Amino acid sequence: MADRITFEATVNGQKVGPLDIPADLMLTELLHEYLGLTGTRVACGQGVCRACSVLIDDGVAGSAAALTPLPACVTGAAYASGKSIRTIEGMAGDDGQGNPVPSAIQQAFLDHFSFQCSFCTPGFVISAQALVERLERAPVPRDQVEDTVLAAMNENICRCTGYVRYLGAVRDVVLNTPGLTTGDPEPAVTAAAGPAAGGRG
Ligand code: FES
Ligand code: FES
Repeated sequence: MADRITFEATVNGQKVGPLDIPADLMLTELLHEYLGLTGTRVACGQGVCRACSVLIDDGVAGSAAALTPLPACVTGAAYASGKSIRTIEGMAGDDGQGNPVPSAIQQAFLDHFSFQCSFCTPGFVISAQALVERLERAPVPRDQVEDTVLAAMNENICRCTGYVRYLGAVRDVVLNTPGLTTGDPEPAVTAAAGPAAGGRG
């Protein structure tokens, strides 16, 4: 195997490369050290906590791969070469005039006070955004939202244990965004965000 490879990809909609990189470079190292995209966090570094999740579109039309978060700390940059990568830096919305605004998921995490230290937050944003985009393609019945959200966020670890507020925020976005669910829209569920909701020290 060659020691070095040429990396080219689309990252958050921008063409990147060609870059001459070590063949065994991990994607997090590429993002941090070559591209200056430091929003993707490295916590466990072993593919366990999902703080480092990114979305990689394999270019196959209709493929589910683009909406399956991958842990960038154990994903080789070589795997991502030639593909389209989305990171936390590409998750913001747009106000229609080219100015970034928080996405619905990001705003919900703020509204619910979902995070404390925030180290896990980029990974939670990526997983939740992937879920929203999957539901845009294939909505679920409202009575399955609870289980669907839990399954989608199940691999994300928060050392500050903010799970209740994270899951409540994602549930709110799913239930209150037209087109993500099927069935009777009533009652709209809003997760409690007060101190009694738990999940924060
Ligand atoms: S830092 Fe990549 S999975 Fe934990
Ligand atoms: S908010 Fe601190 S690890 Fe999740």
